[in-house]
Amino acid sequence: MQFVVCLIILISNAAAIEDLSGKMFVFPQQTNTAHVKLTPSKTSFTVITVCHRSFTDLKREHVLFSMAIPSNTNEFAIIYKFATNEMQPHMKRDKTSYGGLNYKINTWHSICTTWDSTSGLVQLWFNGQQLIKKYVNPDSTPPGTPIIVLGQEQDSHGGGFDINQSFVGMMTDVHMWDYVVSSCEIQKYMSELSFTPGNVLNWAALDFLIRDRVLIENKQLYCQ
Ligand SMILES: *[C@@H]1O[C@H](CO)[C@@H](O)[C@H](O)[C@H]1NC(C)=O
Repeated sequence: MQFVVCLIILISNAAAIEDLSGKMFVFPQQTNTAHVKLTPSKTSFTVITVCHRSFTDLKREHVLFSMAIPSNTNEFAIIYKFATNEMQPHMKRDKTSYGGLNYKINTWHSICTTWDSTSGLVQLWFNGQQLIKKYVNPDSTPPGTPIIVLGQEQDSHGGGFDINQSFVGMMTDVHMWDYVVSSCEIQKYMSELSFTPGNVLNWAALDFLIRDRVLIENKQLYCQ
């Protein structure tokens, strides 16, 4: 009996590993529950690059990427601040802001962020444009298991979601590397050319778990 219960728990929590090439996650509703949990292939980082494409018509603050560890819920997060039109990368216990972006609604936006905690330098790429390198205090937080969530912003480790920071729209091509991806490779990502996929999160072999209403649909919206 115990074995059967164990097995059922194992099966119901089994995350799929899927090739999502050509597909996207659809977050069709504003909720404080719907999200996708991503399982990274590594759990400790001194250097990070994260890329994603998203499409929304939200006219409020929202989260594009949220990685929490037990001691720090914003260990690595990308949050859009509507009031000031700023993309805000959070690293460790610090953050920085990139303003003046043409973050139009109902448009795909390709965003990459590189972060090197040895130098403290962060750099945002926005729709093919390379923005300046900025310093973020890299003072380390105690290591801990990361939980990566799309669609919701974590205010606790794996939870504490705020409906007013939730993401509504479509998201695709999420990749994460444990090194600073070269300008050339990032430009290839931005142009949707072939590039070296993430070695921590790879959209073509994504280990993920959907909670509540998030759907997988084909990305191509035009006729062949
Ligand atoms: C979300 O925002 C709405 C409108 O500003 C507000 O009425 C509501 O209390 C907020 N909800 C939470 C959970 O903060």
